[in-house]
Amino acid sequence: MQQGKFITFEGGEGVGKTTQIKLLSNRLKDAGITCHHTREPGGSAGAEAVRHVLLSGKAEEMGLSPAGEALLFAAARADHVDTTIKPTLKKGHWVLCDRFMDSTRIYQGEADNVAPELIDSLEKLAIDGQVPHLTFILDLRAEVGLNRAHERREEGEDADRFERETVATHEKRRQAFLRLAHNNPKRCKIIDASQSIEEISFDIWKIVESELIAPNKADEEQSPTSDASQQPQAKEG
Ligand SMILES: Nc1ncnc2c1ncn2[C@@H]1O[C@H](COP(=O)(O)OP(=O)(O)OP(=O)(O)O)[C@@H](O)[C@H]1O
Ligand SMILES: [Mg+2]
Repeated sequence: MQQGKFITFEGGEGVGKTTQIKLLSNRLKDAGITCHHTREPGGSAGAEAVRHVLLSGKAEEMGLSPAGEALLFAAARADHVDTTIKPTLKKGHWVLCDRFMDSTRIYQGEADNVAPELIDSLEKLAIDGQVPHLTFILDLRAEVGLNRAHERREEGEDADRFERETVATHEKRRQAFLRLAHNNPKRCKIIDASQSIEEISFDIWKIVESELIAPNKADEEQSPTSDASQQPQAKEG
């Protein structure tokens, strides 16, 4: 059976990742593609338990170092990849994931200054070759994204530990996401997230169609027996 496709959504707080995943999921369903929506940190029973420690600020309270925190993210990711992402793709279903390895590269690697060698080794261990086929980096001024996240929050709901950080820190991460996208142009597509929800959804759909749906159709037409389920490269530039 042909493997499903793996698409990740990245970017800062409140840029519209969750909104766009839902819209893409609807479009894929209309196109007859079964897809599974998941998120990080979390997405599997073990990883959801770790998510609470990471986002509540408990890891900080315990005095966990940024490297220690990166280890927790990696443990959660390994479980998520192993028990949710890979089995779903194997069934031929698509997986849409809200944050993945690039968030670790940016949040722990760039901003928290965890050694790049450690980030790389943990990434290799955790994703076990499962590089996304496509990654959308939703780009928006940090201030606008934080305001959106703030407005969305329900009364009485606290900001998580990342949302509590300064606008300058978020803007620094935004620039790091842009650099990452420029260094991985085949996989990572920058999307202007200041547009309307519908415009963004349309931009994303056009890319998904041309990169992941149309090429497969062309393959099938040319050779019904050809194997289009090629895995993405485990190592990228
Ligand atoms: N293009 C847009 N224009 C205006 N508002 C938007 C747009 N996209 C999303 N929103 C709104 O902004 C808020 C944040 O969107 P969403 O939750 O999808 O972002 P997110 O990236 O998932 O945030 P977080 O990082 O907090 O999970 C929501 O209230 C959503 O309705
Ligand atoms: Mg979200």
